[in-house]
Amino acid sequence: MSVRFPVARPRLPDADAILPYLRRIDDNRYYSNFGPLVGEVEARLAKHFDVSPACVTTVANATSGLTAALQAEARTRRRNVNDGPAFCLLPAWTFVATLHAVLAAGLEPYLLDVDEESWALTPEAVENALGRIPGQPVAVMPVAPFGRPLDMAAWDALSERTGLAVVVDAAAGFDRSEAANSPAVFSLHATKVLAAGEGGFAVSRDAEQIDAIRKCINFGFMGDRVARSRAINGKMSEYHAAVTLAALDAWPETRRVFDGIARAYQDAFAGQTRIRVMPGETDEYATSTMLLVCDEPLPEEAIRAVEQKGVETRRWWGGGVAKQVAYRRFSSDLLPVTDWLAARCVGLPCYPGLSREDVAEIAAVVGDTLLDR
Ligand SMILES: Cc1ncc(COP(=O)(O)O)c(C=O)c1O
Repeated sequence: MSVRFPVARPRLPDADAILPYLRRIDDNRYYSNFGPLVGEVEARLAKHFDVSPACVTTVANATSGLTAALQAEARTRRRNVNDGPAFCLLPAWTFVATLHAVLAAGLEPYLLDVDEESWALTPEAVENALGRIPGQPVAVMPVAPFGRPLDMAAWDALSERTGLAVVVDAAAGFDRSEAANSPAVFSLHATKVLAAGEGGFAVSRDAEQIDAIRKCINFGFMGDRVARSRAINGKMSEYHAAVTLAALDAWPETRRVFDGIARAYQDAFAGQTRIRVMPGETDEYATSTMLLVCDEPLPEEAIRAVEQKGVETRRWWGGGVAKQVAYRRFSSDLLPVTDWLAARCVGLPCYPGLSREDVAEIAAVVGDTLLDR
């Protein structure tokens, strides 16, 4: 059967909305290297996060932004070479890009389990784990799961208490995340709630951190052509800035649309005791990813049965990063909550154009099929 409701069908700003910004690029003849449109994106994002423009930098995508932020931050935690490998702690329940960034920054990953309620790593779990790390812990990368905001003050406090560098993977968290003393990195990928196709940005209350990240996404250069650190090319182009500016123009409407879809799913599953959705009724952030959690594991046959009825779903994070073929060898705690979530959690269709009636139909198909096994 053909897919009636795909899991994602992003809608980015159309050509007419982007054109005025493209014309400005034609006039400016500036295409990358922190051009005027990128500057405007950073200023507008700074307003959203209530910080100064020096506290925001755009990046090519969140993966490169996370890599650069870790390079910049972990370097400030000086170590003795006899301390063994430098470790970065991260949750196993995340998208594989979090782990790619840790490795690209030259750190050794250590995977921790997440909290059952929030689906996120907690500062307490990190502090409890410190004695078990087979080397020197220098950094931690908490993840805002599918956009659900983290308690940033608690992460800043952990950083102060332990001396660990904290870099937050807030890839999907544009709507409600807050700027803190530790940098957070956001994605503008097509599947995200604020989308430019590819792109991202980092925010911190500490402008010096942002400066250091800018150096790490610009070959290690800082005003001249001398590489002063390990670095990458992770700059945003003016063309991606053009799409981002058009996406920011449309943000109030985009937010309203995603919020409406979330409310429709919450209403549609309200009577169910065995299925819940995230974001749930008490959550207030807008996201482009709607997750269903069933009280029992969802085997592949159950997922296929739903798809045969025209509703596509996706295990967005697979079994978590410990199950990725490339990364099975890394040190890890036991991961019962991650395994529990990976077995019971799937993404549901979520995109502009989905009506309340569509959502009710999807919920009926999914509920009947999954619970009637
Ligand atoms: C948790 C998380 N981290 C990182 C990324 C990577 O973002 P990007 O595609 O902008 O590199 C994603 C993308 O989906 C993500 O969900």
